[in-house]
Amino acid sequence: MADITLYNEDCIKGMKHIPDETIDLILTDPPYNLGQFMQDRDTNLKKMRENFFGAAGWDDLNFNDWKRCMNAFFQEAVRVLKKGGSMIVFMSIIKVETLINIAEKHGLYYKTTGIWHKLNPMPRNMNLHFVNSIESWIYFTYNKKTGTFNNEGKVLHDFIETSVTPNGERRHGVHPTQKPEKLLSYFVQILSNKADIILDPFMGSGSTGVAAKKNGRQFIGIEINKLYFKNASKRIAGTSI
Ligand SMILES: C[S@@+](CC[C@H](N)C(=O)[O-])C[C@H]1O[C@@H](n2cnc3c(N)ncnc32)[C@H](O)[C@@H]1O
Repeated sequence: MADITLYNEDCIKGMKHIPDETIDLILTDPPYNLGQFMQDRDTNLKKMRENFFGAAGWDDLNFNDWKRCMNAFFQEAVRVLKKGGSMIVFMSIIKVETLINIAEKHGLYYKTTGIWHKLNPMPRNMNLHFVNSIESWIYFTYNKKTGTFNNEGKVLHDFIETSVTPNGERRHGVHPTQKPEKLLSYFVQILSNKADIILDPFMGSGSTGVAAKKNGRQFIGIEINKLYFKNASKRIAGTSI
């Protein structure tokens, strides 16, 4: 039975409950610092999608405050990660370099910037510009140059393609940026082993927890928003191993 621990609080506070050097993999999707940028653009996104993330209120920090928040997160991350532990952080492409700089300051070893390509993105403003269909992920290890890497002898490209989150996975409430389980499971299987402990300090709708539980890993999830937390807790509890 997978061991699941969830905290409904700010992740910097929540991570203080976790002892030093105990986490095998941090797999997380923090705010991308795009909220203000999107609000300033005349994209009509809010009208097109009621639960547009830019209107949700959790990605509203200005750039300097966001950097401070990411700095505090990485500081705690390196305290809780085991030596040789791994980390995947999803990020907007335009913030990748900023995030790598912060991570390296805390001693993380930068490995890869990869792409998640969505096969069926919403074709917003398709006659005006290129439809946004990619997000990036950044891969680090801590204190060693290599961590768990279960490639089973296959060549793994720095690129993964999946559909956007299917409706069937959304039945536990609406989160504007819920990621598909298939995407999270991919990293869980490659970068951790059975019974390892996976941490997601920005767990949103709990997709990482579902992927961890289904794959027989232990999970610690933290989410600041009460409603997202309630929905994520129900969703993870209702997941069978
Ligand atoms: C990009 S979403 C994560 C979505 C998630 N990957 C999923 O599949 O549902 C980021 C989440 O971080 C939460 N968040 C933002 N700041 C936080 C903080 N300081 N501590 C904990 N959670 C935070 C937001 O409420 C939001 O749900």
